[in-house]
Amino acid sequence: MASFLDPITKLFGGGHKGAILGIDIGSSFIKVVLVEKVGEKVVLKNYGEIALGPRAGASAGQATNLPPEKIAETLHDLLKEAGITAQHTLLAIPFSASLLTVVELPEVGKKELDSMIPIEARRYIPVPISEVSLDWWILPKRKAGEKVPAAAASGEKVLGKIEVIIAAIHNEVISKYESIKRNAQIPGEGSHFEIEIFSTLRAVVGRDLSPVLVADIGAGSTKLALVDEGVVRGSHVISMGSQDISIALSRSQAISFEKAEELKCRVGVTGDAEGRDVFVVAELLLSNIMNEAKRFVENYENKYNTKITKVILVGGGARLKGIEKIVEKNFPNTSIVIGDPFARLDTPAFLAPTLKELSPDFAVAVGLALKGLEE
Ligand SMILES: Nc1ncnc2c1ncn2[C@@H]1O[C@H](COP(=O)(O)OP(=O)(O)OP(=O)(O)O)[C@@H](O)[C@H]1O
Ligand SMILES: [Mg+2]
Repeated sequence: MASFLDPITKLFGGGHKGAILGIDIGSSFIKVVLVEKVGEKVVLKNYGEIALGPRAGASAGQATNLPPEKIAETLHDLLKEAGITAQHTLLAIPFSASLLTVVELPEVGKKELDSMIPIEARRYIPVPISEVSLDWWILPKRKAGEKVPAAAASGEKVLGKIEVIIAAIHNEVISKYESIKRNAQIPGEGSHFEIEIFSTLRAVVGRDLSPVLVADIGAGSTKLALVDEGVVRGSHVISMGSQDISIALSRSQAISFEKAEELKCRVGVTGDAEGRDVFVVAELLLSNIMNEAKRFVENYENKYNTKITKVILVGGGARLKGIEKIVEKNFPNTSIVIGDPFARLDTPAFLAPTLKELSPDFAVAVGLALKGLEE
């Protein structure tokens, strides 16, 4: 166990000085953010993104599955073009390449937990434990909303329970990202990785203690995280994303993917006459995604006798103009917010309108860069 925790502690480590680079290799775009701490401010030094589609014989905005060498080459080109160098770099591990689960265990000492968790993890991890890097945290006890177990309610003495979040990443995945970093010629010793949803949360969830759903709508998938009393208490991935809107639109209108993608990004779902079809298609696709999100949320709400108060949308898919109105239908009486990770940073005033528009795209990359600055 210790051999797992060591590299992982290093993987999740922070507290670096100088320029820190966060790299988010999504299925459709690579996004990078360079920050530096100047006094008390965290200053945005540079940022950039590049579409992977054209490198895979597909279109911009389409999800790809490129080999690591091609990804490294594309990343190298992006960093070169943007003139980015950094003292320290952090990379995101896709949520889909990791396994995250919350388990309930008896309240025992740390030593016992150390031996209990790999055994417990075996029930959730479909590959031999020796093939994964494992990390875990004990979740702080909920202050509110806990349903009283029947045994305790009847006065019977029950052993206390704790909730533990277990994260597992396949060693092959870590090797893959190490090789991308090496082949993209990114300097810096060691490898610092983080599962993408943790980066997202750092970038967009404030000090809110009430339950919040964060949905990262990417090209190929939508990543959900439920944050309650300041920590992640549940996560889920939906294998649908914003590219599905473009695919469905290109079919329904008999137009190319590029045209559908352009139309979707330009008109959105604002009720514009030109965008009637976009509205119909996007509403259908998004309600499929949001129905699944709703089920995930309701499961949690019922289990813990609570209600989410806010939905924060990030990822390129959250840039769809008017998206809040559609999400609202599935989450009535809930505040629907578009995440603005760049708001965490000190940015040049002249870039404000551009950054505001791009902001949801960069949640993972900003969160990673902030991780590097953490003391
Ligand atoms: N202005 C816009 N309006 C609507 N959709 C947009 C807009 N800009 C980007 N998108 C969509 O966002 C998606 C890309 O989002 P993002 O960069 O977050 O995905 P990714 O990180 O590459 O994918 P994943 O997280 O699934 O691996 C594309 O499907 C693209 O069409
Ligand atoms: Mg993404």
